[in-house]
Amino acid sequence: MSPMQRIQHPLAPVALSRNAWTAARMYEDLRWTLQVGVEERRDALRLAEWARTRAQPEQEYEQGAVAVPALVRLGERVRAELQRGTGIARVVGLGVTGLDDATLRLAYLATGLGTGPALGNYGRLFDVKDRGEDYKTSAVPVSMTREATSFHTDSSARDVEPDHVGLLCLQPAVQGGESLATSAVNVHEELRRVAPDVLPLLYKDYARDVVTPGTERNLDSIRANRFPIFRFDAHHGALTFRYMRYWIERAHELIGEPLAAAETNALDRLDALLGDERFVLSFTLQRGEMLWVNNRSIAHNRTAFTDDPRAPRTLVRMWTLDPGRPPLTQQGHLI
Ligand SMILES: [Fe+2]
Repeated sequence: MSPMQRIQHPLAPVALSRNAWTAARMYEDLRWTLQVGVEERRDALRLAEWARTRAQPEQEYEQGAVAVPALVRLGERVRAELQRGTGIARVVGLGVTGLDDATLRLAYLATGLGTGPALGNYGRLFDVKDRGEDYKTSAVPVSMTREATSFHTDSSARDVEPDHVGLLCLQPAVQGGESLATSAVNVHEELRRVAPDVLPLLYKDYARDVVTPGTERNLDSIRANRFPIFRFDAHHGALTFRYMRYWIERAHELIGEPLAAAETNALDRLDALLGDERFVLSFTLQRGEMLWVNNRSIAHNRTAFTDDPRAPRTLVRMWTLDPGRPPLTQQGHLI
């Protein structure tokens, strides 16, 4: 398929939404920072108590197994902020309460399940740490490396679509490893203003390399693993965003369908705005803090980092689905 033949989807007529924000607005209005305290800690200790009677508490825990009303409420607040607010929530306050790793992980799991059911492609909880791998030379997710990731959304597999991505910090890096987030909806509107000729190219179907566990990886599956970067869901009036540049470029190289110069230029313009300091929210997660993002409207990134070998940077990732979102068919139409 030549670049000119790639399917192009209809543009969003207007993408007005509360999740179109600039960094200044987010620093001014901190409603996206959720403070937790005594009640959540009490629930976490109840989980720790329950875990003592279990062989594999992280695998065995299901909602309702332990009464943790404050953590369930926290999950619901996170989901509300992700779905109807800014699309991002930073949860602070649990790390200063002296909870151990296992208890923090369970409190995080209970919170995450309050946002929606968990996807298990990497296991419900997946440790994001440097495993000495290089995602540019082997087919591993960037979550297993120490590199800066470039702005992206999680999952390059067409049919694996986490609505929410969570990160729990157990150990920050010695240096670097800052979390960055940009509203892709805001970038979309900025492109409409400053580069209207570029925007339609980002509504084309691009192939993505397949690296998500549980998906088959061969040239045919890569060729079929194709979807647009921006997509407008007319039924819900929602604009969505799915992107990681490296997987697009590598897929097109592998299937012998190189990107046209205009397409590469469109990705350059997109990357420049995703990384524009006016739009990027940045902070360093401290131990016990959680970051949750709407994976359909917010691009995330992290800066490269240096580890203390005795205490390597450890974040725990979780993918969940929004129970309020109806399923889409492979073509993106409602079933
Ligand atoms: Fe990610």
